[in-house]
Amino acid sequence: DPELVAAGENVFKKCKACHQVGEGAKNRVGPMLNGVVDRQVGAVDDYKYSAAMQEAAEGGMVWDDETLHGYLADPKGFLPKNKMAFAGLKKTEDIDAVIAYLRAHP
Ligand code: HEM
Repeated sequence: DPELVAAGENVFKKCKACHQVGEGAKNRVGPMLNGVVDRQVGAVDDYKYSAAMQEAAEGGMVWDDETLHGYLADPKGFLPKNKMAFAGLKKTEDIDAVIAYLRAHP
């Protein structure tokens, strides 16, 4: 849905302080997010994740619709001690939109 992707690009402005996506995306404060949807958590090779994120990765957690909704609504509540310093997105539709945007950047 191109409209949802466009809405997600707008929501992603809140993420850009720390994340890049698209051609040439690099790790910054947070890991680059190309291909993150449906991938195992903590899987960008040259990024140093928190211990909490590494443990979730070792447990086999994957970033799908459900886990992304949980994490993006309440990053610290969903994954205690992870290091993403972001309050979270209040609106479910904003989370749907940003997931669609990320999904459009495989
Ligand atoms: C990790 C998404 C905002 C800093 C992540 C991950 C996702 C994500 C999916 C996990 C990546 C992976 O497993 O490879 C988003 C989205 C945001 C957002 C969609 C906006 C809605 C921010 C902001 C910051 C930030 C504003 C900085 C203030 C980080 C950091 C990590 C991370 C440091 C690594 C966490 C750890 O290793 O514990 N983010 N993020 N993010 N993000 Fe964000």
